[in-house]
Amino acid sequence: MEVKVGRVSDVPPGTGMAVYAGGQDIAVYNVNGEIVALGNECPHQSGSLGDGMLEGEIVTCPLHGWEFDTSTGACMTVPGESVPRHKVRIDGDDILVDLPEED
Ligand code: FES
Repeated sequence: MEVKVGRVSDVPPGTGMAVYAGGQDIAVYNVNGEIVALGNECPHQSGSLGDGMLEGEIVTCPLHGWEFDTSTGACMTVPGESVPRHKVRIDGDDILVDLPEED
């Protein structure tokens, strides 16, 4: 299921945002010009990763500082933890994210 989560112009390079779309919380980042979408909920205690600080490809959870690699969704702080990484398509200025169907 592909859903529109915002516009490329909403996320300048080096920033991110938290979006609710398609029934899910999604973190959207502009990593050096590439738009990336992850699950927004930190697996530690549900911090909003879209509101975390982005440095290069690494985002830091705003609550307790767990770090995630936006290129994979893997947690750098606690091996084995991760968030989903969603496929992104850009259509004009629209950011479209491919989300798994909810049961
Ligand atoms: S909720 Fe993200 S590090 Fe604690």
